[in-house]
Order: sequence, then C-alpha cells, then structure tokens
Amino acid sequence: MVEKRKILVTAALPYANGDIHMGHLVEYIQTDIWVRFQKLRGHECIYICADDTHGTAIMLKAQEQNISPDVLVASMQERHARDFCDFQVAFDNYYTTNSPENKAFSCEFYEKMKSKGHIETKEIEQLFCEKDNIFLPDRFIKGICPKCKAEDQYGDCCEKCLATYSTKDVIDPKCTVCGSKPIYKSSEHLFFQLSHFQEFLKGWVKDHLSPEIQNKLNEWLEGELRDWDISRDAPYFGFQIPGTDEKYFYVWVDAPIGYIASTKNWCDKNNRNYEEFWKNDDAELYHFIGKDILYFHTLFWPAMLETAEYKKPNGVFVHGFLTINGEKMSKTRGTFINARDYLEFLDPTSLRFYYACKMNPQFDDIDLNFEDYANRVNSDLVGKITNLASRLAPMLNKKLDSKLGIIPEDGAELIKFAQDKSNEISDHFENRRFSRAMISIREIADEANKYIDKKEPWKLIKTDLDETRNIITVGLNVFRIISIYLSPVLPEYSALVSELFNEKPFQWSSTENVLINHKIGKFKHLSKRVEMKDVESLLEKSKPSIPKEVEEKSKCNYESLESEITIDDFSKIDLRVGTITEANLVKGADKLLQLTVDIGFETRNVLAGIKEAYDPKDLIGKQVSLVANLKPRKMKFGVSEGMILAAGPGGKDIHILSPLTNSKNGDRIN
Ligand code: 2FM
Ligand code: ZN
Repeated sequence: MVEKRKILVTAALPYANGDIHMGHLVEYIQTDIWVRFQKLRGHECIYICADDTHGTAIMLKAQEQNISPDVLVASMQERHARDFCDFQVAFDNYYTTNSPENKAFSCEFYEKMKSKGHIETKEIEQLFCEKDNIFLPDRFIKGICPKCKAEDQYGDCCEKCLATYSTKDVIDPKCTVCGSKPIYKSSEHLFFQLSHFQEFLKGWVKDHLSPEIQNKLNEWLEGELRDWDISRDAPYFGFQIPGTDEKYFYVWVDAPIGYIASTKNWCDKNNRNYEEFWKNDDAELYHFIGKDILYFHTLFWPAMLETAEYKKPNGVFVHGFLTINGEKMSKTRGTFINARDYLEFLDPTSLRFYYACKMNPQFDDIDLNFEDYANRVNSDLVGKITNLASRLAPMLNKKLDSKLGIIPEDGAELIKFAQDKSNEISDHFENRRFSRAMISIREIADEANKYIDKKEPWKLIKTDLDETRNIITVGLNVFRIISIYLSPVLPEYSALVSELFNEKPFQWSSTENVLINHKIGKFKHLSKRVEMKDVESLLEKSKPSIPKEVEEKSKCNYESLESEITIDDFSKIDLRVGTITEANLVKGADKLLQLTVDIGFETRNVLAGIKEAYDPKDLIGKQVSLVANLKPRKMKFGVSEGMILAAGPGGKDIHILSPLTNSKNGDRIN
C-alpha cells in the first residue's frame, strides 16, 4: 500500500490584464494532468492558482477603460475562471492577489526581510516617461538586449538569450506606451539583498532542481546575485509598503506570495490550516512555471520563503513556450489564439489530448501544428481509442441486452497486457513524461484493434451470439482500462466512460478490475473528429479584424446626413492647404501615422489614423487639407495639432483629400 501523500501544486498566476490564450493553456493543462493523476492515485493533491492583479499594466488598462483597477481585476478573474473551467482545468482554489490575505502575508514577509537585515534603502535613478508621467516598469521599456544585442526586447530580460538585466543597461530604450525616449529620474527604493542568500540558493538549487534547470541557473549563481528592488513609486496599483510613504510592493513580490494567500483562502473554506502545506516538511510543494519566470521562482522566491520561515518548494517544473505551426504566436498571422475563440470552433478534449502527446519534462518549446493536431486526434483518439467503444458498445446495446459476458483465454492475455502497463504509465505521468504515457496508451489501443479486427465480431454475431458477447467483453474491458489511464488527460471523456460502464468515477486502481457478466449503459458519443475547416475558421477569427464601426459603415452604401448647419457654422472651421514634410510610423500604434504638415506660416504635428492605407514615404511632399483651428488633442501617442481631411470608411479604404493642382501652403479652403 502506497502512503498517501499531501501535495500542494501551483501554476503561475496569469496576469489580469488580458485573456487566456493557447500559450497559457500549455501550463494549466500540464499542471491539471499532473494533479488529476495524483488524485487518481489516491493522494491529497491541491491545485492552487489566482489572478495576478497588481502593477502598472493593470493600472493603465483600468485608466484606459475608465474604471477602477479593482473592478477591472474582479471581472478578469471571472473571465479567467470560466475559460479554465471550460478547458477542464480544475483548480481547487482560484483566487486573486488583490485580497486581504495576500496583503497580510506580503506585509509579514516584508517585516521578516527587514527585521533580519535583508532590506537596504538606495536612491536610484529610473527611467521615467515625461509624457505619461510615470516611472516605467521593465515591461514598459523596449530596446536592445545588452547581452546578445537582440532588438525589441523588454527592459528586464531577453526572450532570445534569456539574460536578465537592469533596465539601465538596455540599449536605446523607448517607452512602450508612447514611443518616446524616457529620461532618468531618481527616487528612493527598497532592495531585498539576494546576495545574502548566495550559498543557501546554491545548495537548494542543487538539491531540488533538474540538471537542465541547474545548468541555466548556474550562469546566475556563479556570478554575484544582484539585490532586488522590491518597491515601486506611486502611482501604482498594489499594496502599500508598511512604514513608507507612497511606496508599493513590486507586483512580483506579492504575486508568488499569492500562492500562500490562495492556499489560506482554500483552507479557511475547508476547515484546514495553511501551515499544513507551507510550514510542514511532510507536505510536498511544487510550482509549474514557464521558462521565462525561472529566476523569480528559483532564486527570489526560495530566498523569500527562507527569510519568512516557510517551506521551500520540493520542485519547480519548467515548460517551454508554445509555437503555432512552428512559429511564435503572432497577431497578424492569426495565430495569437484566445482560449475562448478556440472553444467556438474546436473541442477542449482534443486539445488536451494533443498537448499531452507533446508534453515532456524538458523546457523545449511545444508546437501546436494544426495539421498534426488534426491527424493525431482523428487517427489516435477517434480512430483507435474511441472507435473501440463506438464499434462494440452499440452492438452490445442493440443485439446483446447490453450485457458483458466472460473473458476467453486469448482475450485474457490482452487484458493482462493492458493492466501490466499500469506501472510504466504511472511512472511516466509521475515524471511528467506525458508524451511517453500517451505512446504506451496507444500501444494498448493498437493491440486491442488488432484483436477485434481479427475476431470480426460484426460477422460472428450472425452465427455465435455468446462468442460475440465475449469478444466484445474483451474489447470493451481494454477500452475501459485505456480510459482510466487517460483520465488525467481527458477527465470529461473518462467520466462518460465510467457512466457507460455504470461505475463510480475511476481511480487508478480501477484498472485492476475486469468487468464480466456486467450490464453497461447506453453508448453516448465520446469524441469528435477535428475538421480542418473549423481550424481555418478559428485562424480566420484570430486574424486582426477591421474595427466594428468601420465594418458597419462599409455595409451600407452611404452614411445618413448630419443635421443641417448654417454658413456661419461652416465658417467656424478654418481649413488650410498644407504640405506633408515628414511622415513616420508611431511605435506601438496600430493605426496612426505621425505627420508634420507645413501650413505656410507654421508647421503642425498631426497624428492621423491612416497607417493601414498609406506608406509614410509615399506621403512626403503631398498637399493636404487641414482643419487648422481644431483644439490640440492629447492622445496616447502625443499631441495632435489638427486633422487632415480624408474620405472613406477607414482601415485600408481611406483617401486623403488633396487640391487638384498645387496650391500655396496656408491658403484657406472655402
Ligand atoms: O508571468 C506571469 O504571467 C506572472 N503573472 C506569473 C506570476 S506567477 C507567481 F509568481 F505569482
Ligand atoms: Zn511614454
């Protein structure tokens, strides 16, 4: 009898500033499979997650939507929870970092850091955007990686070479909100002195992480660890740091602490004590994360836990990124696919099946190749596995009173073959070799199909009912065992199978039973083929769309007329001829071009929504009509001092109005 383990598992907390997409799902499904496997084996395994809600990104997004950040994060939490549920990801608790529990734990951690002498105050210079009036967080700066010189990398780490660095070292930094060059401004910050933990971390890393991860971490551990800036200046959406004026915990401080807060929230609801999991060496603690957040989870986090006298993780399991059809997810190629959009066309069961076929414990990237996905699901899940049941169960239902028979000798061998795979498959699941588990499962299905094809029960039924019943009994028993092995991957599918056999939800040990002379239920549809036309519709839907209002306008031929005005109303509009002397793309803006327009007596900076229709270089020297007395408008990307006239509904279908023959700049248009 295996001892019952007490396991706490976390998946990284998704940011509350965007929807769940196919890339996120790799992690939540991988973790879900592992947790379900542990539960199926009879262990206590609690799956904890939450929305990661703090920081500048969320503050700015709420501002943009004109709502408070609390309202924004509350609605996002609901959206995320719904998406996960629909992909059969079953958290035991899905909470939020914007919670009283998390605030209390964050303060507790900080007090410990301070009282143990690990906090240092330093005056630092930081990049500040004068246009937006905020200190720019790492993710709001883009520039050239100081290490590998890759372009367009974030201010804290490089996605190409995985180096982490200080924003100060980024070459040619730009504010990602407005594209302008930030300035340096100084303020006082609090630093957690990671360097105090160098030896502790070396030991912990060596004892708890895979050689692949250790290799990665040694690059950092061999140099001196940099102290970590844990404070942010107002305005910031987060928890205020006790004893400071207008300083907030950096989102990455309270995010992992959110694992503890969510555990406590679950414990309070279930009459348990969170210390059973976080302060008890008999419990096991595992974090599933992506390779981009390795540093936070394997260096900062264990050092924080050590300081606050909590238990350190027993393991951190790291996966790679998702590519789609071999390439990084991309909005323009339509491969940046939201979870919700996927559900409109395709089935979560088939995605879980496919992901499981690709998953392994290494952190190589995983490719969702849609053709391979369709083939794999159609040939293996539908063609080999489901097909066993869909050929045999209806026959038993219709012709043989739904009653299983006994196991003939050659069938017993096959069933034993399936049962004997239990250790091998469970070992693969335990060690996160899901792709290997899926291969072993498929081998059983192959043998079962061979057996059935050889016995041809659909012919035999005409001559020998008893023998047919027995052959079907073998086939369905093997199918049942396969479904038990698959239940961590396909929970809804296997629930339908246990129903088909009139059984309670499966346990791993259910594979040991063989059902004979047993009444089964009515066969219900179990899994669907993937049709490439649905994949195409999904990709089409994921492509960037023409804004709704433009689409609406282009549907009807003419817009209705505005209400009548007098000549005096019209003469209030001062229209002038101007020449475009400069035209540039605006960093971070999808639709805008920046134009400099010479109107004779002065030049104007104009931000015009014509990027989709014109190439900036084709505009230089062109004359335009400018609304010259329009009140300057402060936009996200700068101030626009006028508006050029153009016809058409928008998007690509837009046409600048120019004088037919050259006029003088500054001439009034009447
Ligand atoms: O990288 C991310 O998406 C973060 N929101 C993950 C946080 S994980 C944990 F530390 F909270
Ligand atoms: Zn800016």
